[in-house]
Amino acid sequence: MSFDRPLDLVERPRRLRRTESLRAMVRETTLSPADFIAPLFVIDGKGAPQPIKSMPGVLRHNVKDLVKECRSLHKLGVPAVALFPKLAARFKDAEGTHALDEDGLILRAVQAIKSAVPGLAVVTDVALDPYTTHGHDGVLTPEGDDVANDRSVAILSEMAVLQAQAGVDIVAPSDMMDGRVGAIREALDNAGAENTAIMAYSAKFNSAYYGPFRDAVGSSKAAGTRLLSKATYQLDPANRRQALNEAALDEDEGADYIMVKPAGAYLDIIRDVREQTGRPVAAYQVSGEYAQIHAAAKLGWLDLERCRHESLLAIKRAGADLILTYFAKDMAKLLG
Ligand code: PBG
Repeated sequence: MSFDRPLDLVERPRRLRRTESLRAMVRETTLSPADFIAPLFVIDGKGAPQPIKSMPGVLRHNVKDLVKECRSLHKLGVPAVALFPKLAARFKDAEGTHALDEDGLILRAVQAIKSAVPGLAVVTDVALDPYTTHGHDGVLTPEGDDVANDRSVAILSEMAVLQAQAGVDIVAPSDMMDGRVGAIREALDNAGAENTAIMAYSAKFNSAYYGPFRDAVGSSKAAGTRLLSKATYQLDPANRRQALNEAALDEDEGADYIMVKPAGAYLDIIRDVREQTGRPVAAYQVSGEYAQIHAAAKLGWLDLERCRHESLLAIKRAGADLILTYFAKDMAKLLG
């Protein structure tokens, strides 16, 4: 077909994309610093920040430096941080005892942040993996071949109450035990912490993308062995209906926010959960998602800034109201 006159088209969608102004006018999804929650790693002592090899640019901070980091995130408009401890080996045991230590690292970190930057929302993880020698999110059965559900839930509920008493705004159970959201809600209410919210890791998949995080908190020791497989509690990546069922259960049990994790490979689940619930939906762009963008950029194979933006935009477009991401600070600087 030779070209001699314009095609006789009713619609030319490209008219909407001709210039940047025209494109901006019809942009459906935008990112802002208020969309992000910054996950932060904390260590004890007074030592220098520790880099994490598989997560370029992410540091483990002592409590004092953590407070500084929180101040700067707050100034940049990031509304919340999510804290994860990296404990020395001597604080770990099979029962995760240190999770209930009233002078524990996380509780001290929460107190320090809330007194220095009270306006910043603080989220703490409720799971035993940083505290157990075996790296599981709960305690084991007497046979040692699985995580014991109900006994783990009892410990996690106590853990959540301690975190609430330390002043945390939101507790985030990431353990995937059955019934933990309801048990935590009840424990919080009984302790007078009815205003402490629960962000449930509802659709948390048994993902290989958590690898770098396990380096960061030192829970990867038994990784790859049969014992450390989290397949008996985290969701099978093949399953969509189970993810929606978990989200519905957590909502019924009193979750204030529903989370999907990881984010990038589970955009369909984010969309499904968005359509199922009236609660805010959070999505966690996990360590491996961050690492793969950095690794490819380092090789010169991908453009870091553009992939970062596109990956986050996709998560928001899928339906997430909030995104936990290690890119939070970089993005807030860019967008602020
Ligand atoms: C465990 C927990 C994990 C992450 C957050 N909380 C890893 C796991 O389930 O082993 C992963 C976060 C990331 O990869 O960035 N309670």
